[in-house]
Amino acid sequence: MRFQIPVHVADRSYTVHIGPGLFAQVGNLTALALQRQAHRAFIVADARVPASVVIAVADSLKSVGLAVRSWALKPSEQDKSLASVERILIEMAKAKLERDDPVIALGGGIIGDVTGFAAAIYRRGIPVIQCPTTLLAMVDASVGGKTGVNLALAEGSLADLKKNFVGVFHQPRLVIADIDSLKTLPPRVLRCGLAECIKHGLLGAIGGDTALLSWMETRLDLFLAQDPDSLVELVSRNVAIKARIVAGDEREEADDATGGRALLNLGHTFAHAIETISHLSPDGTPKNAPLQHGEAVGLGLIAAAATSRALQLCDAATADRITTIINRAGLPTRIAGLPTDEELIAQMLHDKKVRAGELRLILPTQSGDAQVVRNPPSEAVKAGIAAIVLPV
Ligand code: GLY
Repeated sequence: MRFQIPVHVADRSYTVHIGPGLFAQVGNLTALALQRQAHRAFIVADARVPASVVIAVADSLKSVGLAVRSWALKPSEQDKSLASVERILIEMAKAKLERDDPVIALGGGIIGDVTGFAAAIYRRGIPVIQCPTTLLAMVDASVGGKTGVNLALAEGSLADLKKNFVGVFHQPRLVIADIDSLKTLPPRVLRCGLAECIKHGLLGAIGGDTALLSWMETRLDLFLAQDPDSLVELVSRNVAIKARIVAGDEREEADDATGGRALLNLGHTFAHAIETISHLSPDGTPKNAPLQHGEAVGLGLIAAAATSRALQLCDAATADRITTIINRAGLPTRIAGLPTDEELIAQMLHDKKVRAGELRLILPTQSGDAQVVRNPPSEAVKAGIAAIVLPV
């Protein structure tokens, strides 16, 4: 089973290819997608991606006449930095990459964001081909052109890491999601991707697929068992939702009443605050700290639903349904060790979505979509936090 989903954006529309065995075709698909002839290609590979996969992608690019160099990057939030971008730019210059030569981002969301940003600014912009290897990167980070890095206000401190504070929009020329790469993923990383899929399911009404959440509820065990056809359909339906929302508001400029692309941040203001707390662990054991992004997103969705419930934007059954599917996906639904509500809300106020010093939360609603709530009452936000606290 194989799907092609178009992403319509102002500059140049592109296609997301989803299916098994696609990394062997990266060369042909890249040659078809580029408008001018390229001579070289540069791969930025996630250090977790097996060498055999990097070699397969490189061989495929060589088979269409490109000279290929590659560079490995560690996929950590600390390495999602301007220093990594500078390193990649230097390596691209050493590889003599020119304006028409593509850079290939092969890995998870961090690799796609950092590589996309380097491609956007190298010689004022060269083509980037996104080859996501994690579920999260396939359904979210690789599509829509957001690129960038974190900004560390103080060295070594997660709390002072401002997530995605520096970046630009730089749409890929092509996205190639080879489902086979999910087979080698640790189960924890696959589960994290499911959190973003659940988020899309909650946006089904604006994304044009109102059945996605209930379909996911019936297939969850198949996703976790890595059933290939279920995963191809899962990625395709999620990409279609994201593509539709991005096409409607490419640069996230819609007003709060419309929502637009900002709705894709459902649960993320809670999540960004939670994931900066380095001692939090999904199962309470220090060896699994800190939370991964998808785990924080799952908790963020539950907190957003409870906030929505407190504001009477959704009912208890909707909030319970969200907690149940996150639990069934194997993601944490409550967490020990959170700071006080005031401290967490202060951290949420540092989110880059904050405008005029006011919190802007995206909350799920009864009707299968979400809405922007500016400056919510603190009691409602505290009800959201209470929903994810694990009592000791
Ligand atoms: N991940 C949210 C967006 O792409 O807008």
